Amino acid sequence: MDAAPRLSTEHTRIRLADAADAPELLRYRVANRAHLAPWEPLREEAFYTLEHCLRSIAEGREHARLDRGYPLLVFDRDETEILATFTFANVVRGAFQACHLGYGVAERAQGQGIMHEALQAGLDWAFGELGLHRVMANHLPRNQRSARLLARLGFEREGYARRYLQIAGVWEDHVLTARIRPGG
Ligand SMILES: CC(C)(COP(=O)(O)OP(=O)(O)OC[C@H]1O[C@@H](n2cnc3c(N)ncnc32)[C@H](O)[C@@H]1OP(=O)(O)O)[C@@H](O)C(=O)NCCC(=O)NCCS
Repeated sequence: MDAAPRLSTEHTRIRLADAADAPELLRYRVANRAHLAPWEPLREEAFYTLEHCLRSIAEGREHARLDRGYPLLVFDRDETEILATFTFANVVRGAFQACHLGYGVAERAQGQGIMHEALQAGLDWAFGELGLHRVMANHLPRNQRSARLLARLGFEREGYARRYLQIAGVWEDHVLTARIRPGG
């Protein structure tokens, strides 16, 4: 298994972050703070510092090394600008072979199909090289953009969980969806 995927799509390059990406990751976090805040856990002020970005990157690389999770950056083709991020988190092996998927796209790259393009490649890798059988993704009932994206990627609704995740400081209900590896 390759713990450091490098994926290419028509408009993106996708990979794990390394320490040299910290300044660009900080720029992405700061530039998209207001755009992402309604859909994410509350962030402490330290989240918007270079030190925090460096720590996140180191933790992310360690998680990938241990096959626990894969936090991936989606760059433009020149690898100069982060357009989006997504994470295959909470990897469980054994009889389950599953993980959770989280994602977000930069405000300025929204509505262009970038997230879909990147996730399509990411899911091919997760079901292929990574050997997962099930990827689970959950969204707020009012997050219609996310619901549309997941439906187009072939995720199916599996349930509805009350007060499931703390988003922007509030325990929120979530729609539970999953995609199973094509072909069984
Ligand atoms: C959820 C989120 C990732 C969806 O992003 P997105 O850009 O709408 O998703 P896609 O990449 O699938 O792009 C689809 C949009 O691009 C448009 N588009 C333009 N060119 C396209 C192309 N070549 N291919 C596909 N779609 C294209 C589609 O028409 C669609 O726009 P519409 O919904 O206004 O009709 C984004 O809204 C986001 O980051 N939100 C904040 C964080 C968040 O909610 N995360 C998920 C928590 S569950």
